[in-house]
Amino acid sequence: MTTTSEYRPGLEGVVAAETRMSRVNGHIGELIIRGYELEEIAAKATVEEMAYLLWHDRLPDADELAQFSYRLAKKRPLSPTTLSLLKSVAKEKAPVMDALRIGAGTLSLGLDAVGSRELAEAIVARFPTIVAAYWRFLYGQQPIEPDSELGHAANYLYMLTGKRQSLALVRGMETYLNTVSDHSLNASTFTARVIVSTGSDLVSAVTGAVGALKGPLHGGAPGPALDMVFEIGSAENTEPYLREKLDNGERLMGFGHRVYKVRDPRAVVLGEAARKMYAADGDMALYELAKEVEKTAVSLLAEYKPGRNLQTNVEFSTALLLHGLGLDTALFSPTFAVGRVAGWLGHCFEQMENGRLIRPKSNYVGETGRVWQ
Ligand code: ACO
Repeated sequence: MTTTSEYRPGLEGVVAAETRMSRVNGHIGELIIRGYELEEIAAKATVEEMAYLLWHDRLPDADELAQFSYRLAKKRPLSPTTLSLLKSVAKEKAPVMDALRIGAGTLSLGLDAVGSRELAEAIVARFPTIVAAYWRFLYGQQPIEPDSELGHAANYLYMLTGKRQSLALVRGMETYLNTVSDHSLNASTFTARVIVSTGSDLVSAVTGAVGALKGPLHGGAPGPALDMVFEIGSAENTEPYLREKLDNGERLMGFGHRVYKVRDPRAVVLGEAARKMYAADGDMALYELAKEVEKTAVSLLAEYKPGRNLQTNVEFSTALLLHGLGLDTALFSPTFAVGRVAGWLGHCFEQMENGRLIRPKSNYVGETGRVWQ
């Protein structure tokens, strides 16, 4: 006799891991990363401190931080094989997320004999180098060599633009990367955990995770969210534009979340970082239009989807902040991956230490008893 078990589409509400990495409370809009509320740490820590915290469950002391930062900086350069592959991919004009997935898959080359901590450092160090190198290849330019004197976030901006950016811009990037560094058992993190749960390796895990992050229901929304603000163009156009989309049954990118039923705390942190950046720049026009779009979208979503509590998610404020940092929309999702990769790896360590092979089951709903003719 076959038995069926309760089916939870999308595994909604199913607990599939115990973690010390981060906790999300979607009812009160709280995100705790390794014991710190997001608002407490995101705009203060460096990326190196955040990665250390995610992997060691405590902040480093001064010596540990210096050594960890030094090791990361030394590991930034890509192998000639990765670079020449990225150059070929650029001729095909593949999207940056695809290039990151392809480049990430090569990171095991020459590193297959190293321990998992050293491999994880190389992965975190090289994700920004892959994105920046590919971005320059796409536009027919030579990649800029990483600068080991610069911190992780400053060096990423430097490799993308060729300029050493101001402290304000570096702090904006650092706040962004920290804010998205971990978020409990989201789809890409779950993917990474599933992969290492089989005894597979960290490079395979982050390569699969990039694939999961790419989708528009996960990390692929900030580009379209910003495009929407640009298409709207003016405050008067906001409501008619959004109503038309909702009347056509379309989703508004940057709104709604599986877990958050109030405003995503990451949207709050990034919105504030964006406000500071646009204010420092002296041109608040785009920021103010985006605020108008956000306010109108939340109120229309309440009207069109009553009871769903659809609020602003991280992607909307991401778009505003990363645009303010001078990034093209095509770089938004890859930059999300540059931030999230430290979290993926922290979850992988946890899974490798405590986890069990992840192997759920399915209820068969197909035919039986078919006869070969
Ligand atoms: N715009 C319009 N309607 C929406 C939106 C939205 N942004 N989000 C959800 N809804 C509606 C759905 O159409 C559905 O309505 P229905 O019941 O009348 O059919 C209802 O709300 C519930 O939607 P689900 O897809 O079941 O909710 P779920 O929890 O699975 O969705 C998701 C979460 C995928 C993020 C969704 O809100 C969405 O598609 N948002 C837009 C894309 C986006 O911003 N993605 C980034 C998410 S943040 C991140 O992953 C980092």
